Amino acid sequence: MKFDVLTLFPEMFEPVKQSILGRAIEKKLIEVNLINIRDFSKDKHKKVDDTPYGGGAGMIMKPDVVYDAYKSIEHENAKVIYLSPQGHTLNQKIVERLSKENHLILLCGHYEGIDQRVLDKIVDEEISIGDYVLTGGEIPAMVLIDSVSRYVEGVLKQNSTQEESFSNGLLEYPQYTRPEVFEGESVPDILLTGHHQNIEKWRDEKSIEMTKKKRPDLLKNKQSKY
Ligand SMILES: C[S@@+](CC[C@H](N)C(=O)[O-])C[C@H]1O[C@@H](n2cnc3c(N)ncnc32)[C@H](O)[C@@H]1O
Repeated sequence: MKFDVLTLFPEMFEPVKQSILGRAIEKKLIEVNLINIRDFSKDKHKKVDDTPYGGGAGMIMKPDVVYDAYKSIEHENAKVIYLSPQGHTLNQKIVERLSKENHLILLCGHYEGIDQRVLDKIVDEEISIGDYVLTGGEIPAMVLIDSVSRYVEGVLKQNSTQEESFSNGLLEYPQYTRPEVFEGESVPDILLTGHHQNIEKWRDEKSIEMTKKKRPDLLKNKQSKY
């Protein structure tokens, strides 16, 4: 999976080079290329934004500079996503769908946003990470890279994405590890029995219980095997 990120702040992307994603990049399972939009400014002061026509607060990223940055990368079979508070809110279904693409171009806005004309010309889909406004699209782009990369083959151990929250429309069951007793609290007995079928049934019930407690709105998606 290749991610080309169009941004004014490539230095913000250090976090995606760490941990699981860092290893995925090293193993060439994913590729994250950072394209600095400012490099495409024709202005001697490297200006990339200007005041909005019609007046109003803030600065708007110029369409020609963004377009030149976009044209500098191979974009024939790529899907272009603009990270925007006006887009569809990212969820696990969208993440899974996007993980089937081979090449995503992520466009990060900053300041008051980007001139509408270049958005109309190059963007296939707008994605938001929630109903609040951030200073830029860089953090949302990292959220998207992280969540989508987890579905790329080889990035996680096999089956890791199959049993976690949202994968079947519910939240995950509670998890425990050593020590067997912590501050007087024991691990549920069932998990020590080694009886896989009963453990699976217990986990399924707990998954429904957790969802009922924390996210009852999700229960309409219940797909229990029992
Ligand atoms: C301050 S915001 C611009 C908001 C814009 N003026 C509006 O009201 O819709 C600057 C940039 O941050 C990014 N951004 C802000 N909030 C976001 C969110 N919730 N999800 C995705 N991107 C967001 C977008 O790329 C946007 O162009």
